[in-house]
Amino acid sequence: MCGIVGYIGSKKAKPILINGLLRLEYRGYDSAGISVIEGTSISTFKNKGRIKNLMDVPGINDLSGKIGIGHTRWATHGKPSSTNSHPHLDNENKISVVHNGIIENYSEIKDFLIKNGYKFLSETDTEVIPNLISYNLKQDKQNDALKLLRAIKKTCDALKGSFAIEVISSILPNNIIVVRKDSPLVIGKGENENYISSDIPAILSFTKDFYLLNDFEYAVLSENDIKFYNSELSPIEKQVKSITWDATAAEKDGFEDFMLKEIYEQPKSIRETIGSRIQKNSNCVIDDLLITKEYLSSVNKIFLVACGTAMHAGLASKPIFEKLCKIPVEVDVASEFRYRDPLLDDKTLCIFISQSGETADTIAALKLAKTHGSKTIAISNVIGSSITREADYSLYTHAGPEIAVASTKAYTSQIILLDIMAIYFSEILNICSSEEINSIKQEILDLPAKLEAVLKNTDKIKTFAKNVYKEKDIFFLGRGTDYAVALEGSLKLKEISYIHSEAYSAGELKHGPIALIENGVTVISIITNPVTAPKIASNIEEVITRGAKTFVITNQNLENSNFDELISIPNINPLISPILSVIPMQLFAYYISKEKGLDVDKPRNLAKSVTVE
Ligand code: M6R
Repeated sequence: MCGIVGYIGSKKAKPILINGLLRLEYRGYDSAGISVIEGTSISTFKNKGRIKNLMDVPGINDLSGKIGIGHTRWATHGKPSSTNSHPHLDNENKISVVHNGIIENYSEIKDFLIKNGYKFLSETDTEVIPNLISYNLKQDKQNDALKLLRAIKKTCDALKGSFAIEVISSILPNNIIVVRKDSPLVIGKGENENYISSDIPAILSFTKDFYLLNDFEYAVLSENDIKFYNSELSPIEKQVKSITWDATAAEKDGFEDFMLKEIYEQPKSIRETIGSRIQKNSNCVIDDLLITKEYLSSVNKIFLVACGTAMHAGLASKPIFEKLCKIPVEVDVASEFRYRDPLLDDKTLCIFISQSGETADTIAALKLAKTHGSKTIAISNVIGSSITREADYSLYTHAGPEIAVASTKAYTSQIILLDIMAIYFSEILNICSSEEINSIKQEILDLPAKLEAVLKNTDKIKTFAKNVYKEKDIFFLGRGTDYAVALEGSLKLKEISYIHSEAYSAGELKHGPIALIENGVTVISIITNPVTAPKIASNIEEVITRGAKTFVITNQNLENSNFDELISIPNINPLISPILSVIPMQLFAYYISKEKGLDVDKPRNLAKSVTVE
C-alpha cells in the first residue's frame, strides 16, 4: 500500500519519478506527489487522484533538479486530498519525506511536537516524521556529515509501526536517505545514478541490479555511491542482487489491461512454476527445501496461512496434501491466525503464501509460528521480499511480475507449487503408490496445454457476462476443491466489478442460503468431481426450480441438464482442477468489469500489496 520512488543522478528527476509512480500506481491511487531539490531548496508538487492529475499541476514541468522523491498514496490516516498527499515537509520546508506504512504512535509524537511549537497542516500520521527529524536535528550539537542521518535514526527509533521512508533535505542537498521497517523498499544501482522504489518492476527498465534493505538498515545515496548503515549507524556492506526478470514482462504487451494479459499468461507461468520440479519417472525436486523423512513423519499438522486469494490457493491445495501425505491440514486467514493463539510447536509445519511477500498479517503470522518452534516455509512470487527473508525456507512461484491488483496468475502458480510440494512430501514419506503419484504428475505436466484450450474458448463467458453485468447479487456454488474455486470466483467478481456475491458449499444451500434464491438470480457452479457431480447437479436443479439463471463450468457429462449456459473444460483430476476451472471465473469477472466500464487493473479502495494490518 502506497508506492514510493526516488532518483539521484545526472538526469532530470521529475520524468523518472513520474514514470516510476505510474508503475507503482497499483499500490495506491488516491493522490500523489513529488519533491525535487532545485538548487538549495525543495520544490514539492502534489495532487488528489491519479498520477495523471499530478502531471497536470502547473509548474511541475519546469522542474529541472536531479534528485527527488515521489509517492502514490493509499489513504490510511486522513482522507485523499492534496494536503494529505505526500511528500510531507517540516515547518521550515527543509526536510521532505515520503512514507509507506503506518505510524501507530503518531498522535503521541504530534502532541509532543505541538508542545514544542510545531504546526501541522495535514491529518496524516506521516507529517510527524519530517518535524521530528527537524526537532532531533536541532538537539544535535555536532556539525558533521552524519548529522541528518543521526536525526533520522533517532526519529525512527521513536516510531512505532511500519515504515519505508525516503528523506531529502536542503541541508544535505546531494543525498537521499532511506530506511525501512516492515514495509518494502528496494534500491536500484545504475551507472552514475541510483534509484529507489517500493518494488523491483517499477524501476526494472532502468536497472537490473538491486540492493535489499533489512529492517532498520539505512542507506545514504549519492549520484555515484551508496553507503549502508546498520541500526546503530555502523557502516555495513551489502551484496547487489541481479534480477533476471525481463522489463517487458511488466508491460501490457498489446493487451487492453494487465489483468487480461496476466490471465492469458497462465499457461506460461504454470510452466515456469513447474520448471524442473517435476520430471517423468523421477522424484520431484524442490531446490532449497531440506525436509527429511524423519522430520515429516513427526509432523502432525500442516498450517497453510495467507490472505485473500493466496488463502484461497491454500484452500484449493488442502485436499491434495491430506490425500497424498495423510497429514491433517488447516487453512487459516493470517489476520486471524496471528491473534487466535493457534496450537503450534515443532511438530506443526507452517506454510505461508504471499504473492507480494509483503503482506503485513502473513509476515506477522510467520514470525509467530517461528517463536513456537514450528518450521516455516514461505511461498512468494517476489525474490527477496520480506517474507522470504523471515522464513526457514523460501520457494518462488516464478509467475513473473503481477501488476493487476486482482491476482490471477499468482493464484494458479501458488496452487501448482503447493501441489508439487504435496507430491514431494508424499514421495519422501513413501506412502502412496507410484501409479497414483505418476498419474498426478502427468496431469500437472499436461496442465499448460489444457489451460491454452480453455483460454481459446471464451465467447460463451463473454456473452454470459454481457447478460448479467447489471445484476446486484451473484451466487457461486461448488463442493470440495470446486468450492475453493467458487470462493475465488466470488472474490474476483467483488473486487473488480463491485457486484455483491457469495460463494457457498453446494451442500449447505438448503441450510439457509436458498432463501435468497428468487426469480432471475444468477447462480454460477463449478463441477469437476465425478463423485459429487450428481449431488451438485441436483442442488442446481433446486435453484432452477426457484427461478435462478444458471451458469455451469464442468468437465462432467451434464449436457442434457436444464442449465442456462454450460462451459466445458478438459478432464482433470479434481485434486488439481482449480488451476483450470478458475480460468472461466477470472474471465467472467474481467468481462463484467469491462461491460460496466470500470478500471479493471485498479479497482476502488484496493491496493496490490497490503503492508498494513
Ligand atoms: O501479496 P499477497 O498474496 O500476500 O496478497 C494477499 C491478498 O491481499 C491478495 O491475494 C488480494 O486478495 C488480491 N487483491 C486478490 O485478487
